[in-house]
Amino acid sequence: MFKRFRRLRINENLRNLVQETSLSRNDFIYPLFVREGENIKTEVNSMPGVFQMSIDEILKECEYIYSIGLKSIILFGIPDVKDSVGSECLCEESIIARTIKAIKAKFPDMFIITDLCFCEYTDHGHCGILDPVTQTVDNDKTLEISAQQALVHAKAGADMIAPSGMMDGIIETLRTALDENGFKDLPIMAYSTKFASAYYGPFRDVAESTPSFGDRRSYQMNPANRLEAIEESLEDEKQGADILMVKPALAFMDVIRDLRSNSNLPICAYNVSGEYAMLKNAGLAGLVDYERIMLETLTGFKRAGADMIITYHAKEACEYLNKN
Ligand code: PBG
Ligand code: ZN
Repeated sequence: MFKRFRRLRINENLRNLVQETSLSRNDFIYPLFVREGENIKTEVNSMPGVFQMSIDEILKECEYIYSIGLKSIILFGIPDVKDSVGSECLCEESIIARTIKAIKAKFPDMFIITDLCFCEYTDHGHCGILDPVTQTVDNDKTLEISAQQALVHAKAGADMIAPSGMMDGIIETLRTALDENGFKDLPIMAYSTKFASAYYGPFRDVAESTPSFGDRRSYQMNPANRLEAIEESLEDEKQGADILMVKPALAFMDVIRDLRSNSNLPICAYNVSGEYAMLKNAGLAGLVDYERIMLETLTGFKRAGADMIITYHAKEACEYLNKN
């Protein structure tokens, strides 16, 4: 006798009862890109629906996303001036610090995560300080200024700090710096498994952070390595990370699943810019049913084992969930 699986698919109510994975508005973190100026809202060519915004426009956006129940954001800054060490992000009045204060003044309950890196702030576009001889990122010098940047974010009122530069020892460094400066309760979300990926292309356009020479393969991970991916995340857990991350998400669902069975920490999937661009542009070209393919993709991340998702689809996903 064979089993009749179709019995449980016979109507929608029953299908809903036996559904194993669901999306909720609480699952999403929405990326926002802030730049200097006023009245600026510039759409990104490769990512329709995603904008660079000045602080006043960011506030309008926060008002809207808050009204649809989207209450977590991750901030990226685009400074007017760049230099070899990214000085802009190290001063108390950095664009990110001013943005955090402005948002918190109007929306104190908005949960603000800050991406901590240097590639948007350095004139060479790499994720840290360069060694003058080898022209590669100097890990330990970058750790020192990362601690400084973390304190800028913390003092401005950030709710969680997410270092994305793939420096070894970053979690221990930030945890110590935060603890010693009165921020024992400020959580750290590690970009713990971050691959050197072509899927970041559109992000680098919007964040204006493409390296002026070379690539990031000496600090970001080789996409071919599964065991190393687990080791990287478990090391961050050992150093005190509160949340782990797999980035990108779509081509790395196996890693999300493996991490789920190797760690009990919450896991974030970063559904990156290139992944959004593919779906969005395919939808606009009439090649796929955008809404359905978006929901299927986001559900897939959760099924793989993610607890939360950083995604440019967050707004549309919440709008959908509010009407269904
Ligand atoms: C900065 C950073 C990047 C992303 C998040 N933080 C780009 C990079 O590492 O080059 C990528 C996000 C995306 O593609 O959506 N280090
Ligand atoms: Zn970077």
